[in-house]
Amino acid sequence: MKDYKRYLITAALPDANGPVHIGHLAGCYLPADIYCRYQRAQKRDIKFVCGSDEHGVPITIRALKEGVSPQEIVDKYHALIKESFEQMGISFDIYSRTSSKIHHETAAAFFKKMYEEGLFEEKETDQFYDEKTKTFLADRYIVGVCPVCGNPNAYGDQCERCGSSLSPEQLINPRSALSDAVPVKKKTRHWYFPLQHYESWLKEWIIQGHKEWKNNVYGQCKSWLDSGLQPRAMTRDSNWGVKVPLPGAEGKVLYVWFDAPIGYISATKELTDKWADYWCKEDTKLVHFIGKDNIVFHCIIFPAMLKAHGNFVLPDNVPANEFLNIEGEKVSTSRNWAVWVHDYINDFPNQQDVLRYVLCANAPETKDNDFTWKDFQDRNNSELVSIFGNFVNRTLVLMHKLCNGKVPPLHGESLQDVDNGMIREFEASKKKVEESIENYKFRDALYEVIDLARKGNKYMQEKEPWIIAKNKEELQKTNDVNKTEAMGELQKSIDNSLHICLQLTANLAILIHPFLPTTAKKMLYLLKVVDKILDWENAGKSKLLSVGYSLREPQLLFRKIEDSEISFQVEKLRAGLVNPIEKKPNNETPPSKREENITPANLPGKKSTIEFEDFAKLDLRVGTILSAEKIDKADKLLRLVVDLGTEKRTIVSGIALQFLPEEIVRRQVVVVVS
Ligand code: MF3
Ligand code: ZN
Repeated sequence: MKDYKRYLITAALPDANGPVHIGHLAGCYLPADIYCRYQRAQKRDIKFVCGSDEHGVPITIRALKEGVSPQEIVDKYHALIKESFEQMGISFDIYSRTSSKIHHETAAAFFKKMYEEGLFEEKETDQFYDEKTKTFLADRYIVGVCPVCGNPNAYGDQCERCGSSLSPEQLINPRSALSDAVPVKKKTRHWYFPLQHYESWLKEWIIQGHKEWKNNVYGQCKSWLDSGLQPRAMTRDSNWGVKVPLPGAEGKVLYVWFDAPIGYISATKELTDKWADYWCKEDTKLVHFIGKDNIVFHCIIFPAMLKAHGNFVLPDNVPANEFLNIEGEKVSTSRNWAVWVHDYINDFPNQQDVLRYVLCANAPETKDNDFTWKDFQDRNNSELVSIFGNFVNRTLVLMHKLCNGKVPPLHGESLQDVDNGMIREFEASKKKVEESIENYKFRDALYEVIDLARKGNKYMQEKEPWIIAKNKEELQKTNDVNKTEAMGELQKSIDNSLHICLQLTANLAILIHPFLPTTAKKMLYLLKVVDKILDWENAGKSKLLSVGYSLREPQLLFRKIEDSEISFQVEKLRAGLVNPIEKKPNNETPPSKREENITPANLPGKKSTIEFEDFAKLDLRVGTILSAEKIDKADKLLRLVVDLGTEKRTIVSGIALQFLPEEIVRRQVVVVVS
């Protein structure tokens, strides 16, 4: 592997034509963010750039239909998209936009240099023209029947149903997307980029040189290259976009796929004066995160542009994801079949990490995948809550109970094989997570982190410190002459297991951080350690928390998601209620927000004193807990069966956050009998 000094990471510039949905997140923003957070934790020099693509054809069509200017459309969506990314914790170093001055200048200069070096071919051709709106109809301005699959609404550049890439001439019964008029042919002049001249170079660079690219990416490149490249017009007749910087080119702008990827360069310029280090020095690792519909532009056209222009690095990798379907059907913004990010945030406030988790665990890395609300609930409840959250909570509850809320010492002489085995897993997991992330296998990496928490639970179950504590209590009551020593041994076993579980918790915080940054921060709060501990070099270490250090009271990292919340979302989707435009989708409060959680701040106050006579009326009895179990879908409740001597009673008690079921069995409790 090359020794890179710098990382430049890009995520596809979203069209400022609508809000972002979860398919966008899963496709490229989330994997890119995980990658960047990991690289930052590795202390690598990295820049993460993105911004809004504001010159796309859908923007002008929408503007025309809504009777507003394209600028109004992009201003609205740029702001909304930017906010959604912030809310999801996508940690761009810059989120720019292609309507900015710096971008117009950069893109125009790029074109001009290529023009001056004679890298374009100027051609006059007949093109479809809409006489009603006086517009040339390239790309999406023209619709018609797809010659491949019969889709009646295929675009002039692509059929979204079958994925075929088309030219307007191939459409059957073409019509204008602006006015429905039947177009006529009219002559127009444009600058073409002769891609065929770069074919053999591209073949060598990709087919020979980048066999490590993901199969879906490599395969698409190969099929494009095998079928031969054609000259492609790099300008369009329009008034919206970057003006062609040549005399006599009025009414012509750069093709959006020429200007948009240059947006990565302009955004970097806007970010740092050292932008040229990132774009021009050979020891930069450039990685483009995109969705699969962008492969040809990022693997073939843009690299050919960079090569033709000269002085630029080429992408080292283009890890494109496939598509994420929703409840078994393709996302469709026109049918409102989508889960919008701002809508999710509205319904599930402060639960960005849950969505990040589900989208990564189920990412369409190698094939299209399906998002279902049921799976969202299952993954939250059975993985985040029951595995990861449960391990951290058990560890903290037990250390408070059995070790006075302080990190207990590790007694080396008393370590057992299971203890050493558990410690060895820290390093092994770190290696696996690292290797998977470096190879863009984010699902595998995340699985490994959860698996480490699962191993933690298993370890705890094997060590049973609560049983040992009980044995210690029993021993205390005996007259055994050696009891002090024996009790000391038992405490050592308790100390060791909790010491190891706490160090494991710190490791989990480091490893989960790129994926679930908010959760990692909560863990640091509980462990009372500073952000610095999240440096990747700390992962794998077993001495992150100092002995004797006191930690905070446990708090749950995740909450269960109820059936009612899921059915609400499914209903909403089916009823087409999800609103792509407005921030407040409807007035109905989702179940997730109906009940305020009780926090120390809104806890009811102390009760007033009662008269002794009233107190004397209470029937208080001592009973022994025979069994205790967690109640499904209720974080705070335990179901106890208590033996009162005269009878056995089942009591539901809200103590699940303070006590583990296994540690309170056989304990005696006072029961108010009625
Ligand atoms: N706006 C395009 C899309 O959403 C992506 C542009 S990526 C860039 O498909 F490289 F061109 F910026
Ligand atoms: Zn088709």
